[in-house]
Amino acid sequence: MQIIHEIAVLRAQVADWRRAGLRVGLVPTMGNLHAAHLALVRDAMTRCDRVVVSVFVNPLQFGPDEDLQSYPRTPEHDIDLLIQVGNHCLFAPSEQEIYPHGRLGQTFIEVPVLSDLLCGASRPGHFRGIATVVAKLFNIVMPDLALFGEKDYQQLMVIRRMTADLNLPVEIVGHPIVREPDGLAMSSRNGYLTPDERITAPLLHDHLRRLAEAIRAGQLIADAEWDTARALSAAGFKPDYVSVCRRADLNHPKPGDRSLIVLAAAYLGKARLIDNLIIDLGD
Ligand code: PAF
Repeated sequence: MQIIHEIAVLRAQVADWRRAGLRVGLVPTMGNLHAAHLALVRDAMTRCDRVVVSVFVNPLQFGPDEDLQSYPRTPEHDIDLLIQVGNHCLFAPSEQEIYPHGRLGQTFIEVPVLSDLLCGASRPGHFRGIATVVAKLFNIVMPDLALFGEKDYQQLMVIRRMTADLNLPVEIVGHPIVREPDGLAMSSRNGYLTPDERITAPLLHDHLRRLAEAIRAGQLIADAEWDTARALSAAGFKPDYVSVCRRADLNHPKPGDRSLIVLAAAYLGKARLIDNLIIDLGD
């Protein structure tokens, strides 16, 4: 596997692949790779001739009181896993390479409305940081296709909108959530959980499943959201939000909407966990 740190070197490599008529995929990550990332890489490898995995802990998407400093960084482990899975190229730039004018001097990309809902309401600037770094990665790598996990469903929506609004020629592919055997969605932040919290954590997914069943059985959405938040609090979580939305645009469902999704964020100790579940009400 090639390991590249400079933008110019990566561009030259991708240009060679393009001259050879190869299709290029990008899997953007913040490192500390686990099985869910590897599922994205494997998926990308079935769709493309060459796959670039980027590892960059993007400071622009962390708020001032968030875990930028403590976010797990495991470069050797990441390299081992990417070699095992047969990945072609790792792009691991420095902060100086990505933001040469500093964090405050950087031009940014703002996706309105979508960025202010749900996680955006409690993490101001988070999606601006994501849209900015992903647009930069698209311009650096110029991939045919990029893959993102559906656990970060709002992030996926923001990236799709940004790509469409800016007419970027990149196909965006969402990959289904990869879960631990007990249902907990895989995430680097699961590493913050204590052993006791790790036992409690899958209840987030359980309660979203119960909420989906209640809505299918005809319970009012607002009541189901409230019941779920209360059940999570009783289990030891500090819920940030539990929200049933229209799947297409994350707006509040209107009567007759059939394609819904419930999204939730909740703290469990130091970990802020997010999860979601599609609720398809059929015709
Ligand atoms: O999902 C992530 O790991 C990050 O938000 C991303 C897309 C790599 C941007 O930094």
